[in-house]
Amino acid sequence: MRIYCEKDYDAMSRRAASVIAAQVVSKPDCVLGLATGSSPVGTYQQLIKWYEQGDLSFREVRSVNLDEYYGLAPDHDQSYRYFMQTNLFDHVDILPENTSVPDGLAKDPAAEGARYEQVAAGLGYADLQLLGMGRNGHIGFNEPCDHFPLATHLVDLTESTIEANARFFASADDVPRQALTMGIGTIMRARKILVVVSGADKADAVWKAFRGPITPDVPASILQLHPDVTLVGDESALAKLTEDKG
Ligand code: F6R
Repeated sequence: MRIYCEKDYDAMSRRAASVIAAQVVSKPDCVLGLATGSSPVGTYQQLIKWYEQGDLSFREVRSVNLDEYYGLAPDHDQSYRYFMQTNLFDHVDILPENTSVPDGLAKDPAAEGARYEQVAAGLGYADLQLLGMGRNGHIGFNEPCDHFPLATHLVDLTESTIEANARFFASADDVPRQALTMGIGTIMRARKILVVVSGADKADAVWKAFRGPITPDVPASILQLHPDVTLVGDESALAKLTEDKG
């Protein structure tokens, strides 16, 4: 595993963007697995800058997002489809038909999970999967539980995730209680994984994920078994890992 410890969020974002840009430059028609949340916003801003300067093109890139709130329409301002449009897709030359996000309004979530898994499989899964990490160690919306879910599925969000995400909604009551998420199996099929973490409130989860036992109680701990993981964090998120070196 490669670890980049950067001084702050901006430096973390530039580093993460450079890993994604390297992927896109070396394979212009690559499949990018994309994430939402606060962690990748700066990364997307940097990618947009390079696109605007003419240094990067997404013309041939295909993308497949990790997850979507169940019950939110694509044009709801807290849906992950809306997030991707406003934070990246609308500002670069990726073709709309080459982007995929689970359908939060699907009537039959099990069928939507199966369909979405087929979309990811049809693309050959991600060349590079970008991940943020929850304070409880979740990746995608795979919450701590007693097993590692394999494929895209409907999940009940934990209180900790609802509380963490309430900042984006009028109140915690407005946070959807369920989401469709790629499974741990879907994520692990990516050829490369890039994790971005910032802030002291992630430090425990980062330590547990990369130094603790591999357990579905800390879903990100499965990444210890992936052969190509790059972890990019700011100093406070990586504080416990770096303490641990000596
Ligand atoms: C987002 C996702 C989540 C977030 C995680 C961290 O698509 O799948 O796992 O990456 O909740 O969120 P932030 O970055 O907001 O701390």
